[in-house]
Amino acid sequence: MSLSLFEKRFLFFGGKGGVGKTTMAAATAIRAADLGYRTLLVSTDPAHSVSDSLDQRIGGETYTEVNNVANLWAIELNTEEAMRNYSQIVTQQDPSGTISEFIGGDDPTSLSPPGADETVAFIQLLEYIQNPEYDLVVFDTAPTGHTLKLLQLPEMTQSWLYRLIKMRRRLGGMMAGFKAIFGGSAGTSEQEAFDKLEELRDQVEIARVHLANAKETEFVAVTIPTIMAIWETERLIRALFEVAFPISQIFINQIQPKNPDCTYCRSRFEDQQENLQKIQELYSEFDLVEIPMFEYEIRGIKRLRELTLLLYQEDSG
Ligand SMILES: Nc1ncnc2c1ncn2[C@@H]1O[C@H](COP(=O)(O)OP(=O)(O)OP(=O)(O)O)[C@@H](O)[C@H]1O
Ligand SMILES: [Mg+2]
Repeated sequence: MSLSLFEKRFLFFGGKGGVGKTTMAAATAIRAADLGYRTLLVSTDPAHSVSDSLDQRIGGETYTEVNNVANLWAIELNTEEAMRNYSQIVTQQDPSGTISEFIGGDDPTSLSPPGADETVAFIQLLEYIQNPEYDLVVFDTAPTGHTLKLLQLPEMTQSWLYRLIKMRRRLGGMMAGFKAIFGGSAGTSEQEAFDKLEELRDQVEIARVHLANAKETEFVAVTIPTIMAIWETERLIRALFEVAFPISQIFINQIQPKNPDCTYCRSRFEDQQENLQKIQELYSEFDLVEIPMFEYEIRGIKRLRELTLLLYQEDSG
């Protein structure tokens, strides 16, 4: 059912708040690692819950080896620190804000970096994309809105970087002219900062290519059978299509098991069945994976492994 996922290099789990993104990402990463793939689980959600799900302190400093799972590492992106590094690069480029003022003209926002938190997460994401140490990188993303911004970033960041670089070139040319007249050479630190910017632009271009390649990348939409979740899934999937992000699987989580002896359960069951049918009609061309509501919270390696048996039963023999 979802086996093709393990042949990818980058898996993104996204969806509405609370539907089970972290749980599904963690379980999938554990299964991949158990199958022998060197796997990295990355949280791009500022409200990190990978630690809670794995029941182990993960943190954002290093790749933490996950206890009791060979081949699995995890990290929770520290956006605050990355943000500092990022704004440093930006201010180095335009210390007095002259370029922004110059280019700003009719569009004052044209030089401000797009979506700060997401940009930082994205820049860090570039690091994983180019890291050959892992066979598979599984991303546990923030609820839909943030994630969409993140995925639209390559394009935005790139056009922004192109504008900035073009501007720097022009101004740089002017500066060089002055310097040639009055003596002196261009400062190395300035050149270094400029090189960094160009490097960043190239990295973003590489990321775009990888992320749009369905052989390497897959987005798994996690949803639950409620009308509100269906609407949000629809918005998510449309937006993913718009940025040409590969998606073919939807995990439908927290399905109420049939229980004729309990009035509450029966009513929920019937309600959900109607919504399930809607999902099946809407997404008939997708691979739909149905996951029941467990009697307990799915947390910790043992329980996550139990979930993997259900998710990936066809390859577990
Ligand atoms: N099928 C299930 N049966 C029982 N409990 C579940 C199931 N799926 C998820 N849970 C539990 O529901 C809670 C929310 O799940 P999870 O944290 O994975 O959602 P999320 O989409 O990542 O949430 P957030 O949007 O806050 O990041 C967790 O306590 C998890 O253990
Ligand atoms: Mg989560």
